[in-house]
Amino acid sequence: VDARLQRRVQRYGWDLAAADYDRLWQEPLGPARTALAAGVAARGGERVLDVACGTGRLALDLAHAVGPGGNVVGVDLSAAMVDAARRRVAAHGIGNAVFERMDAEALALPDASFDVVVCALGLMYMPDPRQALREMARVLRTGGRIAVVVWGDRRRVGWSPLLPIVEAEVTSDVCPLFFALGNEGALGLACAAAGFVVVEQHRTATSLAFACDDDACDAALVGGPVALAWSRFDAATRTRVRERYLEAIAPWRARRGYRVPGEFVLALATRDDASAAACAGTSTAATAAATNAQTAPAAKASR
Ligand SMILES: C[S@@+](CC[C@H](N)C(=O)[O-])C[C@H]1O[C@@H](n2cnc3c(N)ncnc32)[C@H](O)[C@@H]1O
Repeated sequence: VDARLQRRVQRYGWDLAAADYDRLWQEPLGPARTALAAGVAARGGERVLDVACGTGRLALDLAHAVGPGGNVVGVDLSAAMVDAARRRVAAHGIGNAVFERMDAEALALPDASFDVVVCALGLMYMPDPRQALREMARVLRTGGRIAVVVWGDRRRVGWSPLLPIVEAEVTSDVCPLFFALGNEGALGLACAAAGFVVVEQHRTATSLAFACDDDACDAALVGGPVALAWSRFDAATRTRVRERYLEAIAPWRARRGYRVPGEFVLALATRDDASAAACAGTSTAATAAATNAQTAPAAKASR
């Protein structure tokens, strides 16, 4: 898939999804957000960058954590997401968080200007997630910390049939390598290749609750990753796609709604001088560190 096309599909798709995103996804994604915030443990006075910040829910928590002496910058490809994030912090009277529309692969931010970088469920949508990780390494100071969460193994993510169901109706792939970083060890290796020293990596099973058919379908189709394609489907295509998706998630019916299984992978990493030097290529030491981290006990973030 052409990278510019993928970026456009994401940008305008998330513009359409923004209005429904909080209603449909904030609760199901709560465990991933909590694990990420706990892992990175932002402290008073720190400067934090939230990449692919969406509607700013995590940025708001981080703004509280760093307090008035620190600050949070949230960036996202979608203008509607950025607007929603601005409205969220304004509504909470938060003065230490700002938001800008920006592509994660080309951050218009100075080198070494953040103590902490986070990216929650954003990398999978980027044409070149490794370039985005290199950019995150560039803007993180030496000794700084990063936490990244992606969806896990597609066989353990119950909504994953959505992508082939929608792709069957459109001419280009929706997100060709969506689950690539969820494969065993992949996220840690990508972080190491970008110049980070991976400290921990774990896989956490979760359960995504949706109250009824409409909520489950809206989360997947209206307020999620395929919103642009959905907006262009005619009535017959919408009916067909909806039926196929409901069939795919039928095993997880629970009373009137659904408990769809999911899995997140969380990587925590730091940037030191040696890892910065490794940015130019894949460092054997960094790769070994990532491989070791992969074998670390998965207990910490499990719930
Ligand atoms: C599933 S949402 C996650 C939002 C938020 N981090 C959260 O946890 O709720 C994915 C976000 O990634 C953003 N995104 C996709 N591609 C991007 C890119 N190349 N650069 C920056 N943001 C991007 C989308 O606009 C969307 O807001």
